[in-house]
Amino acid sequence: MPKLTIEGGHTLSGTVTASGSKNAALPILASCILLDGQSTITNIPYLKDIVIMLRVLNILGLRAEYHNNNTVKVWNQKKIKHIAPYDLVTSMRASFFVAGPIMAKTGYAKIPLPGGCCIGSRPIDLHLKGFKALGASINIEHGFVELKAAKLVGTRIYLDFPSVGATENIMMAACLAEGETIIENAAQEPEITDLANALIKGGAKIKGSGTSIITVYGVRSLKGIEYSVIPDRVEAGTLLIAGAITKGDVTVEKVNNNHLEPLNQKLIEAGLEIKQGINSTRVIYKGVLNAVNIETLPFPGFPTDMQAQIMALLCTAKGTSVIKETIFENRFMHAHELKRMGAVIKTENHHAFVYETEHLSGAEVKITDLRAGAALILAGLVARGHTTVYGLKHLNRGYDNLPQKLRSLGGILFV
Ligand code: UD1
Repeated sequence: MPKLTIEGGHTLSGTVTASGSKNAALPILASCILLDGQSTITNIPYLKDIVIMLRVLNILGLRAEYHNNNTVKVWNQKKIKHIAPYDLVTSMRASFFVAGPIMAKTGYAKIPLPGGCCIGSRPIDLHLKGFKALGASINIEHGFVELKAAKLVGTRIYLDFPSVGATENIMMAACLAEGETIIENAAQEPEITDLANALIKGGAKIKGSGTSIITVYGVRSLKGIEYSVIPDRVEAGTLLIAGAITKGDVTVEKVNNNHLEPLNQKLIEAGLEIKQGINSTRVIYKGVLNAVNIETLPFPGFPTDMQAQIMALLCTAKGTSVIKETIFENRFMHAHELKRMGAVIKTENHHAFVYETEHLSGAEVKITDLRAGAALILAGLVARGHTTVYGLKHLNRGYDNLPQKLRSLGGILFV
């Protein structure tokens, strides 16, 4: 079984570069279904989830491939197929991003229901609510969602929760709808703005992305683009925590500091120094690490995708931290593995109480999901002795060579 062993106790220091954002790249690649002709998307991270999205696009009739490790070229010149493949959509929820674009482009889409995953049930009701409001008829049968719409017509759509995926899917579909669509209580994550900017480059008319009200004025067609994806704020945050947890001094380059603000504020509150350059963030350990309370929230709140990593950090802090997870119902699986490393954590429904631990100790642990994997590796960097992490497939889905980046900062990790 593939595994990674980490020798704990080495202080990380130096400079490392953040890759492009996975969560921005995935919907932007799906949006290429809407973009006629050739698109070149740069600053794409090299990782498994992107490979899955490229396979989905190829099966749908586009040609989509890595040109080099960070550039993807997409040719959208043939008729788009209507049916997305079961195995790929069910192996990666983000494949459901193709639903809105296929429906808007061809009038008919048949997509497997993505199902839940280990962090939560993850329904798609808000995506469907938006499609229905735009005029699609929806039929769910035999594990597939069928979307039919001779024509989409702009309307007002209020999201009961600012879902990232629903905002993106509806925004993409609305680009080719007739007239004006207003998405209220839209998600405000930076990845939404990145998708909107990519679509605007292709000729879409979108206003208000990054706010809770997004207005899309439909156009007849969109054209291919050249576009560079934003930096990955979750990868950057993980690397900053690697510096913090090892009492080190780490600079992450090619970041957008505004996107890192919710994390940086908590690191400062915990006693770390944060220095921001134009496109870089540096974290410096100043001799103390104090407990802090965290509540995950939609952006600009603290990101759920950083909850596991900050829990690893807080295991080494002075005092008791309370972490409240409000986005996903089952996102504390890493707590059980951290406890195997000596962490003292009590979980109760949406809360995790992280108590002061004298030291973490290396152990064999299992990755249950992407960010949990990052948390266990971070804990391994500071634990006494060796930590062996299993379940690397989860890590490789969403991190572009994290072990190598940590090695470049002085971490000792071997396969
Ligand atoms: C995206 C990110 C993921 C991140 C999450 C929250 C991608 C590829 N993934 O996932 O890394 O953790 O945002 O920031 O960008 N919900 C519903 N009905 C829906 C849709 C969502 O109830 O139709 C619920 C979900 O079950 C969840 C919450 O809303 O509890 C947030 O989900 P959402 O914002 O949609 O996350 P994703 O787009 O799936």
